[in-house]
Amino acid sequence: MPEKLAICLLASEVEPLSKTGGLADVSAALAKYLHGAGHDVRLFTPCYASIDRAAYSAQPVAALQQVPLAVGPNNYVFSVLRAQLPGGAPAYLIDCPALYARTAIYTSDPDEHLRFLGFTRAALTACQRLAWAPQVLHCNDWHTAFAPLFLRTAWQDEPLFAATRTVLTIHNIGYQGIFPAARIADLGLPGRRSLLHQEDLAAGRINALRHGIRYADSVTTVSPTHAREICSDEYGMGLQDSLRARGRAVTGILNGVDYDEWDPRHDRYLPAHYDAGRLAVKGELKRQFAKREKLAAAPKVPLAGLVSRLAVQKGIELMFEALPKVLGARPLTFVALGNGEPQYEEFFALLERRFPGRVVFHGGYDEELAHWIEAASDLFLMPSRYEPCGLNQMYSLRYGTVPVVRRTGGLADSVRHYNPRNGTGTGVVFNDFNTQALEWALNTALDLYAAPRHWTRVVKNGMQQDFSWDRQGGKYVALYRRLIAA
Ligand code: ADP
Ligand code: GLC
Repeated sequence: MPEKLAICLLASEVEPLSKTGGLADVSAALAKYLHGAGHDVRLFTPCYASIDRAAYSAQPVAALQQVPLAVGPNNYVFSVLRAQLPGGAPAYLIDCPALYARTAIYTSDPDEHLRFLGFTRAALTACQRLAWAPQVLHCNDWHTAFAPLFLRTAWQDEPLFAATRTVLTIHNIGYQGIFPAARIADLGLPGRRSLLHQEDLAAGRINALRHGIRYADSVTTVSPTHAREICSDEYGMGLQDSLRARGRAVTGILNGVDYDEWDPRHDRYLPAHYDAGRLAVKGELKRQFAKREKLAAAPKVPLAGLVSRLAVQKGIELMFEALPKVLGARPLTFVALGNGEPQYEEFFALLERRFPGRVVFHGGYDEELAHWIEAASDLFLMPSRYEPCGLNQMYSLRYGTVPVVRRTGGLADSVRHYNPRNGTGTGVVFNDFNTQALEWALNTALDLYAAPRHWTRVVKNGMQQDFSWDRQGGKYVALYRRLIAA
């Protein structure tokens, strides 16, 4: 029997407790996989005000009540609640109202960096008080990226952490946790200025993610293609030099899909279920959905879907021209769900007014609707500018909803362009980040839809893909074991 590992996961969002995007799905699913494989995995996350403690039977941890927490010169008090995630992995919720009783998970408050420095410190303090020695400390994104440096400094004399290896996973390099150098004392690392990135300091800032890249034993991102991309000037967002300096320590592991949550064979939000042998059910769901959404044309014509944070990353501006043009020229209906930057929300609202009965836009966040869109749509659009992994294209594949994606990051690693000559491929993939390329992709998809022989083939090819965590989670365990053995 291979040795079971002690793994401490730190994540700023965890499905179903808190979610703004894919990090929540991934942190929950990785914890579930590791727990299921018998490892001692403990997932730490902030106890945001929005979390319904009763719903998750969160229980106070006796040894971790009213614990003093110093974040540099700032003093707080935290307590810890233990909850069970679906699948059984324990979640340790850091309850600190001064930091997490806000209206949103992320804020632009001036103490945003303190909220997550506090979280990181509280999690390490909690491990100490529990006398728990994690073999691996796996942090995620900028929020917990100072953990590796903390282990080498503030906690360097703690025997529990003497053998702890660190992993930083970058889910989104577009968010780096930059705060003013004038707040250096908030790090609580007096006399350690030389360990910080000097050029950033000189420029008046501290970049959390950069210090994770520098000090973690291993840096991963969520697809092999994106691991190469972020070392380039085009995609590195200013961190490419720090990444290149880590050489082979930077790798990519594609995210998995939690098929307990995302599978049309048993999706809890759907009234009927299907697989590749029961595609008529998908057609029926589309009819029901079109009716409820008042998409008059939809039952007969193809329906394209979109579920997304509306951020610059997602390539929405490519749709500004391409969508009206294609909608004007060909039979197509479109449903979008998303929230974020006002210019994108306005665009979709305008599109809805311009194409009544053919376009519907839902602003906001809606889990049930996200599942319905995956099931009822024929096409799913992800024209991302960059996409570290992306989950919805993988969900789409399982739902028989053909993804139309740009060849970048995890989209490039999970969708293959359909080749009508030999019937291979799972979607429509375009290369260049411009309107014409997206227009080409939409037209290509609509041409395929009009050729049922090809359409059925591409749909079924996609439904056969397997991105389960059984495979991807094993890659993390292999990485942990390599680090421990090194
Ligand atoms: P990202 O993490 O960059 O937002 P991913 O594709 O990895 O992109 O993950 C997005 C996740 O968030 C998916 O589970 C998707 O269904 C969900 N999601 C995004 N926006 C919404 C929304 N408005 N309503 C419901 N779910 C959403
Ligand atoms: C990010 C990325 C997305 C990825 C998700 C989970 O927010 O934008 O591509 O799938 O994290 O790793």
